[in-house]
Amino acid sequence: MVKHGTLLLATTNAGKLRELRAVLDGLPIDVTTLADHPHHPEPVEDADTFEENARRKALYYAGRTCGWTLADDSGLEVDALDGEPGVHSARYAGPACDAAANNDKLIRALTGVPPERRTARFRCVVALARPGEVVDIATGAVEGIIVDEPKGTNGFGYDPHFFVPVYGMTTAQMPPEQKNRISHRGKALRAIRPVIERWMACDGNGSPAKRGGLP
Ligand code: IMP
Repeated sequence: MVKHGTLLLATTNAGKLRELRAVLDGLPIDVTTLADHPHHPEPVEDADTFEENARRKALYYAGRTCGWTLADDSGLEVDALDGEPGVHSARYAGPACDAAANNDKLIRALTGVPPERRTARFRCVVALARPGEVVDIATGAVEGIIVDEPKGTNGFGYDPHFFVPVYGMTTAQMPPEQKNRISHRGKALRAIRPVIERWMACDGNGSPAKRGGLP
């Protein structure tokens, strides 16, 4: 297969990386991760929206590595908590917290909230950048409700508490292929996949000198 270039997947989250790789599988590109670029300090993700964080992260790493970069920002929005944890999902329980601490805090925050008011969604924005510009973004969301009892061992983060009524299970109970089919990240990635293919076929090395419209 003729490869059109190299795409950096800009995340250190192993769970996300697995999902990104699975949905991008078969594209004629080489994929690298931040483990291949250990010298760059992580940018601060302090914007108010998923989109702005994804854009900034993609631009930052594209500039630093001089190549095509795909970055995502994602998180959980809980209606009864006015959209929290939202952009704070990764560090909801504090700067050095883990998924267990985040889930504990979430379940405590929802104490006494009845099931019908526990509606929530995972949201994801992915941004594709080359040095100096974000060329496109795509978004995805999946609706569910937050359950007290964790169920399932797949996935990561809030998955054991995110119940999807139409499937009768949490996203942690879904096999990875099923989660990818219905998830916020799967939807955003499938939307950006043809864009990656077209741009990289046209301008495989991400050279800013060759800027132009989408072919
Ligand atoms: P990010 O690395 O800043 O995008 O943080 C995303 C955070 O949102 C993760 O650390 C998880 O806590 C949560 N999150 C995003 N997507 C998922 C998912 O698919 N399952 C479970 N938790 C998720």
